[in-house]
Amino acid sequence: MLTTDDQQALLAWYDQHQRDLPWRRTNDPWRILLSEILLQQTQVSRGLVYWRRMVDTFPTVEAMALASVDAVLKAWEGAGYYSRARRLHALSQRVMLSEENGGFNGELPRTYADLLSLSGIGPYTAAAVASIAFEQPVACVDGNIRRVMARLTAQTDPAAKEVQAWADAALQTHRPGDWNQALMELGATVCTPRKVRCGACPLASSCRGVDAPERYPAPKKQKKTNVELSVVVEVALDGYPVLSQRPMSGMFAGLWGPHYTEEAVEHRSSVVFCGTLRHELSHRSFTVHVHRHTNTECTTGTPPDSVALSALDTKVLELAGLKTDNPR
Ligand code: ADE
Repeated sequence: MLTTDDQQALLAWYDQHQRDLPWRRTNDPWRILLSEILLQQTQVSRGLVYWRRMVDTFPTVEAMALASVDAVLKAWEGAGYYSRARRLHALSQRVMLSEENGGFNGELPRTYADLLSLSGIGPYTAAAVASIAFEQPVACVDGNIRRVMARLTAQTDPAAKEVQAWADAALQTHRPGDWNQALMELGATVCTPRKVRCGACPLASSCRGVDAPERYPAPKKQKKTNVELSVVVEVALDGYPVLSQRPMSGMFAGLWGPHYTEEAVEHRSSVVFCGTLRHELSHRSFTVHVHRHTNTECTTGTPPDSVALSALDTKVLELAGLKTDNPR
């Protein structure tokens, strides 16, 4: 368990060494919420780009609520995990409702329980926003904090409940937002998965894992599914691809793209093979055989920058020889 001296040492370290990130320079709960949703599965360097884009496009919760889900997906394009964007849009619309209608009169709620009731907000995000934006004394747990805890206590596989109990007990209640961020920052910059920098750690003297930090926690075996697909990019007479919007559930829900198939397509007449590409998602490895076909029955296609595309579809269109201005 951490001593009072440890807690003070970590906060002092954070005050001195924290990265200068734009969402740490604001008290605006909406901007803080956007950062926490983006950072859930995205590295800070990429998160910065998308955070800036989301804040510029939707400076307030109201601005997002008034926009279409397509506009939100377009701003989110390339960030991955698109269900987060759809849930964020639903969240904004709920917040704008009056209280009688189950909303929050246009203000983000301040408590952990109310935040948790919003679409797309799980225990981590509710605790992060409640503590960082509203100084509520709630401890959050993410992968960084789990690693810090596992090392401090020399455990290879601490259960989620144990990590939460540890975080609850360790919480510095007079600076809860800074405390949660200090633990995450330590995990992100010092107590990293590899190349651990114990010499720079303010908690090293209390750490039971300091002699062999990389043993804790033991890596979780993640099985990836290999998916092999073919795609024929239909090209209209105006040179643009024929794209359609995917259904609102399932993979790449709500995004636009060409049609994928598990069947062989080479035998179709006038289908030209363009190449094979690989694309990695967290749980899936894609191998995609890309083809193109000029569709003489179709006069107009869809300009790729006018719709939201996944990074995979952007690569597919590029390999098929079509220009896209979309970032990866
Ligand atoms: N990861 C997610 N949110 C974070 C934050 N506020 N500080 C550091 N790392 C984070």
